[in-house]
Amino acid sequence: MTITIRRANPKDAAAYARFMSHPEVYAGLMQLPFTDEDVWRSKLADGCGPGKTDLLLAAELNGEVVGSAGLHPVGLALRRRHALTLGISVAPQAQGQGLGTALMEAMCNYADNWIGALRIELTVYTDNERALALYRKFGFEIEGTFKGYAMRNGQYADSHSMARFHPNPPRIYSGAVMA
Ligand SMILES: CC(C)(COP(=O)(O)OP(=O)(O)OC[C@H]1O[C@@H](n2cnc3c(N)ncnc32)[C@H](O)[C@@H]1OP(=O)(O)O)[C@@H](O)C(=O)NCCC(=O)NCCS
Repeated sequence: MTITIRRANPKDAAAYARFMSHPEVYAGLMQLPFTDEDVWRSKLADGCGPGKTDLLLAAELNGEVVGSAGLHPVGLALRRRHALTLGISVAPQAQGQGLGTALMEAMCNYADNWIGALRIELTVYTDNERALALYRKFGFEIEGTFKGYAMRNGQYADSHSMARFHPNPPRIYSGAVMA
């Protein structure tokens, strides 16, 4: 079994449309039914476009794209530049084999060690035990609960707000003496 994590690109659209069309996947996210390859080609092209600071990752299992993850700015507010928001999904047939863990490792490493983000935040439905276990494993903690947060298959579902802080925030080393 070989897991590869790499940057996503518009050529991944067909694979993304396949797993994002699965009710077990889109129900756990904020996605909707009836997605398709064109929708994902456009989203991926937009996310990879010039000036975009999003990190879009694809996960391959034995060469097949079966997972995705993204780290995104929380908005335009300059005072929230230290925060990012995270999303993740793995095709049902590929779940439970470590892809979610590999994607989270890659995103946390990128956030901590390459862009110095201090806070990563997300929302997760309160009954999504698998996702909650994955997030807790990476140090995310529940900060609050939204009641009736989003429509999900005919009902308003509750959602937790979770966040993880940089475990060892970097500082500028000022002890060096230049000759
Ligand atoms: C959440 C999700 C990304 C996890 O991906 P995954 O590839 O299954 O994750 P992993 O195989 O790395 O497992 C991660 C952890 O989940 C937990 N887990 C695995 N199977 C589980 C199960 N059946 N029930 C509860 N927790 C489980 C374990 O703690 C596991 O860590 P461990 O193996 O070190 O004990 C995936 O289930 C998914 O895409 N779900 C649909 C979309 C979604 O809900 N996304 C999250 C939105 S907030």
